[in-house]
Amino acid sequence: MAPDTLRWDFIGLDTRYRLADGRVTRRHYLDSAASTLALRGARQVADELLRHYANTHSDLHFSARIVSHAYDWAHVQALKFVRADPGRHVAFFAGSGCTALLNRLARTLAARRPERDVVLVSLMEHHANDLPHRRHAGQVVRLPLTGAAPVLGAIDLAALEQVLERYRGRVNYVAVSAASNVTGIVNPVHDIAALAHAFGAWVVVDASQALAHAPLPLCDTGSPDRELDAVVFSGHKLYAPGSPGAAVVRRALLEDTEPDEVGGGMVDDVQQSGYQVTARFPDREEAGTPNTLGAVQLGAALNLLQRAGLTRIHAAEQQQLQRLFAGLSALPGVRIYGDPDLQRTPRLGTVAFNLDGLEHGLVAAVLNDYFNVAVRNGCFCAHPYVRELLKPELWTLDIDPDAEDAAAMLEPWQGMVRASLGLYTRDDDIEALLAGARDLLARPDHYRALYRADADGHVQHRTFTAPAETLFDPEAALGRVLARLNARDDVL
Ligand SMILES: Cc1ncc(COP(=O)(O)O)c(C=O)c1O
Repeated sequence: MAPDTLRWDFIGLDTRYRLADGRVTRRHYLDSAASTLALRGARQVADELLRHYANTHSDLHFSARIVSHAYDWAHVQALKFVRADPGRHVAFFAGSGCTALLNRLARTLAARRPERDVVLVSLMEHHANDLPHRRHAGQVVRLPLTGAAPVLGAIDLAALEQVLERYRGRVNYVAVSAASNVTGIVNPVHDIAALAHAFGAWVVVDASQALAHAPLPLCDTGSPDRELDAVVFSGHKLYAPGSPGAAVVRRALLEDTEPDEVGGGMVDDVQQSGYQVTARFPDREEAGTPNTLGAVQLGAALNLLQRAGLTRIHAAEQQQLQRLFAGLSALPGVRIYGDPDLQRTPRLGTVAFNLDGLEHGLVAAVLNDYFNVAVRNGCFCAHPYVRELLKPELWTLDIDPDAEDAAAMLEPWQGMVRASLGLYTRDDDIEALLAGARDLLARPDHYRALYRADADGHVQHRTFTAPAETLFDPEAALGRVLARLNARDDVL
């Protein structure tokens, strides 16, 4: 199946909104790094399963067996997706994204090797791959990136080696993202694994921004020293909203210790005075009733993506990335963050930028209200990275850092606009963003006059409002349900 076949099969591609100038146009969704749209085919598989819905912890009735089988199948899809070896690796699901799993791994790995009290993370990490390690490790050391702000690149391998040497015998694991959620910059995770393993450290990879966009096998060459020890990802960034977070982990990291979470489904027996944890994977790691429907939806999405081919998906996205990159770079007044040399520093389909003299909040609001372009703005839960990227330009602002209101004055400039691509992104989505950026740069005063900052500092249009409940009202949707139910009153 070609990626093109899949790219039309998403829910919400024809969503339309009325804009500030009264036009009703199609939404241009360029916020896939936050959450992707739903792959209809994957949702369909989960919906079909609903007819049989039951709990996996029941054993003997038809429905329970069907759901258990489908849930097992979802685990197999996760293992296959990263080319894991089912004999040595385990896949398990938890929470609503990878945050739950990164917290879990941080606790588990700290307990497993307390004598190794150091964890290395990179400067570009999302808070989800930073704060759990800060909380559970004795010490977190930040790895530098190549280059200097704002032209920062990927994780600096030479610096990594030096840090591993400096903390020889103390590094428990290295926790890095496969690609940044801010700049899309790709890290050489298998090279990082080879270096870390030479020092006895494990490697935990946050693949949330990578797996939907490019192939990421646990091992790239077959050489065991290059194999990633743990990979985590979020189903809602893989075209399966409502699905759990997923982890694929080398079993040896989890065996012989009590799982971090305990409860039903992960024990062989429980007495008043004790309990015996099952040796079975993934049951040990999945206490409680799992999100079976979400996991099956995710499994189906992974399967469909593999059929379309991640190499081909990546190649198609790279073409669009280049189009977006070239279009933005050609506009005088656009600053793109991170090394702009795509050959030297490869990226996935995410670009963070600012427009000269325009606050990121204003740009994102205008793109939405006048161009129907959905982008994210701010610091993207990666504050240290964004601040580092912005440092050179924040220095040039004429703001006295000692002034009482310095923080408030800096605030509108501490952030960026992020455009991110998905399998469904079309050329006209990118054109809409470029048209918006072009017009903003041409008429900054016109747009500035249309907006004001509210008491919380958020950008608000002076006259145009589109309250969420007028666009989608759960009560109205419920009203339609009630109409259907009432129409059936006579047969109840
Ligand atoms: C790189 C990265 N890591 C972790 C997360 C956290 O994922 P979640 O909120 O799904 O747990 C995100 C979410 O944006 C991310 O982009």
